[in-house]
Amino acid sequence: MSGSHELSRRDFIKVTTGIVGGLIGTMIGLPSIFYLIDPALREGGKEAWIPIGKFENMQVNKPYPFTFTRVQVNGWERTASSFGGYAIRKSDAPESLLILNSRCTHLSCTVNWSEEGNVFHCPCHDAAFDIDGEVVDGPPPRALDVYEEYRLTEDGTIEIFFKES
Ligand code: FES
Repeated sequence: MSGSHELSRRDFIKVTTGIVGGLIGTMIGLPSIFYLIDPALREGGKEAWIPIGKFENMQVNKPYPFTFTRVQVNGWERTASSFGGYAIRKSDAPESLLILNSRCTHLSCTVNWSEEGNVFHCPCHDAAFDIDGEVVDGPPPRALDVYEEYRLTEDGTIEIFFKES
C-alpha cells in the first residue's frame, strides 16, 4: 500500500521535474529562436521608400525608366526580386507625376517604352499600353498598375512607397 504511494509520489516528482525542466528549456531556447527569426524581420522589410530619380532629370511626357531590387530574408534563404517602372512627368508640378509599374497586367512580363510607337510594348504577347498606361492592344485585362504613393525629398529626389503584395 505504502509502496504504491511512494511510487506515485516519485512519479509526481518526476513529472513535476519534467515540466519545470521543460519550462526552463523553453525560456533558454526562446532567445535563440528569436535570434533565428530576427534577420527576417530586420532585413528586406515589406514596405519602404525607394528613390527612383531626380525630378529635374525627368522630362515632360518622356517616360523615365527606373528599376530596383528588393531582398527578402526567410531564415537562411535570401531571395532577390526586381521591380521597375516609368515616371511620366506631366508638368512642372511634382504632384502631376504618373508613376507606372512596368509589369504587364497580362502575365507579368516587363513592358518597354517604344519611342517610335509612342506606346509601352509588351514583348510576350505583343500588347501595347499608351503613355498613361491604358491598354490599346493585346490581351492585358487592365491598365498598367500605378505607384500611387510618392514624395519629393528635400534634395529633389522622387521616392515611391513600395509595399510588397
Ligand atoms: S504578358 Fe504582356 S501581353 Fe502577355
